[in-house]
Amino acid sequence: MIRKPIFAANWKMNKGPSETEDFADGFLSKIQHKTFPADIVIAPPFVSLAKAAEKFGNVSAVALAAQNCSEHNSGAYTGEVSAMMLKEFYLHYVILGHSERRAIYGETDETINAKMLKAREVNLRPIFCIGETLEEREGGKLEEVLRRQVSIGMKDLTERDLLDTVIAYEPVWAIGTGVTASAQQAQEAHAFVRSLVAEQFGAESAAKIRIQYGGSVKPGNAAELMACPDIDGALIGGAALEPQSFLDIIVNGS
Ligand code: G3H
Repeated sequence: MIRKPIFAANWKMNKGPSETEDFADGFLSKIQHKTFPADIVIAPPFVSLAKAAEKFGNVSAVALAAQNCSEHNSGAYTGEVSAMMLKEFYLHYVILGHSERRAIYGETDETINAKMLKAREVNLRPIFCIGETLEEREGGKLEEVLRRQVSIGMKDLTERDLLDTVIAYEPVWAIGTGVTASAQQAQEAHAFVRSLVAEQFGAESAAKIRIQYGGSVKPGNAAELMACPDIDGALIGGAALEPQSFLDIIVNGS
């Protein structure tokens, strides 16, 4: 099964509209007249989506993502943004279940599942993040945690939803720490996640779904990680804040 790799830049709470414009100008000048055997996605903060849509809206090589959406359609939810609202920004993807949302904002597997279903109602493609803490890994709970996150977070997705979903396996201990999972650790976890998808949705869907690795991906380690058979791209934080570094990861990892 050939799966097209997908490289997504998660800017987290970095880059307002003017920095987004600077990044876009730099990145677009570097990718001009080039084609890539990979999907490229950029996820700016909400307030920069309009600027990103203005700069990348007509660039077929780059798709945009939001970093979160509400599990509700509209109403008295101060500070929240619905999936339906996001569709107006030419978005294709939405990152859901990031470990920072889980740990800092208390998002549960059930909330994340509700968000996944809302995103799918308006045809947004979820980049569904899962991953264990160091304590969980060292306590022998890796498989239990991943099983729970996948079975609840992806509950009630249809076969069609599945084709439009990307899973991002991000071991929490590797995020923003400079410590990357070894290629072997990452491959083992990815193969296990794929087996969970097979149990829940069947072998055919499992063979098609793309599973990205996230956690201190850099230009220097992208090739080794992406060479693993079950790793289909990367979700990148810090190293995707500069156009050249993001591009180097895409080129080295594709
Ligand atoms: O969403 C991205 C991940 O949290 C990885 O972040 O590349 O800065 O470790 P990082």
